[in-house]
Amino acid sequence: MLQLEGLGKNFGGLPALDKVSFTLPQGRVTALIGPNGAGKSTLINCLTGILTPDQGSINFQGQNIVAWPAHAIAKLGIQRTFQNLRLFPRLSVLDNVLTGLICASRQSIFMAMLRLPSLRHEERNLKLRALEALDLFGLTDKAQWPAAILAYGDKKRVELARAIVSKPALLLLDEPVAGLNAQETRAVSEELQNLRRMGHTILVVEHDMDLVMTVADQVVVLDSGSLIAAGTPEQVQHNPLVLEAYLGRMEATA
Ligand SMILES: Nc1ncnc2c1ncn2[C@@H]1O[C@H](COP(=O)(O)OP(=O)(O)OP(=O)(O)O)[C@@H](O)[C@H]1O
Ligand SMILES: [Mg+2]
Repeated sequence: MLQLEGLGKNFGGLPALDKVSFTLPQGRVTALIGPNGAGKSTLINCLTGILTPDQGSINFQGQNIVAWPAHAIAKLGIQRTFQNLRLFPRLSVLDNVLTGLICASRQSIFMAMLRLPSLRHEERNLKLRALEALDLFGLTDKAQWPAAILAYGDKKRVELARAIVSKPALLLLDEPVAGLNAQETRAVSEELQNLRRMGHTILVVEHDMDLVMTVADQVVVLDSGSLIAAGTPEQVQHNPLVLEAYLGRMEATA
């Protein structure tokens, strides 16, 4: 589905990504792990067109999408969530999820101003799809709540619902359980397993190793911008380079 070849990104001469290559297989969950500052979010930002890589290629369904603008990449069906929440606080939960369908609407602003019956029909359809997505994450009862008053865990879920509502070809999740308690983490873990059963192709950045072990088919590990390991969760868990990358960080912060 997606191949990265020699991806590189520098900030002020320092490499945040250095010749990173790996493949995301269709219908599989890939976890991207690594210590803080390893380049994980930078990689997601390069995949979504928020950042332009300095080197390398990103092949998605047969096209090199490097340097494509973010809106064109979103139109291809690559959707994401953010490490730091990006909801519209005053909009309702439902409207926040509807924003994930803006690209899917076939109506122009001009047609929307005319309020044609076809528009009202389409609005109803989009709303139904948004409600379905909310249902997947147990948010149906809160559809009309302003996003601002939700608990943190539910806000993370609204982001997930908004990312999947357009039925994206590829879903990129940047730390979906960061800041959640154990019970909320288990719930999101189950929701991600549901998405996997539904056949979604997912790249998930995550520090929670229990979640990685439970939901991932393959794991890729970044350290200081370089890919240091890739394989099944079990293989990566026992890889000495990976242990060193994490232990080194723990010693440095001790
Ligand atoms: N916009 C930017 N300008 C300058 N440096 C940046 C920028 N974004 C990231 N960096 C640097 O690039 C490196 C990789 O950062 P990145 O946010 O990708 O790491 P990460 O693996 O997502 O870390 P974390 O686990 O803390 O989220 C870090 O050294 C960071 O300081
Ligand atoms: Mg990050």
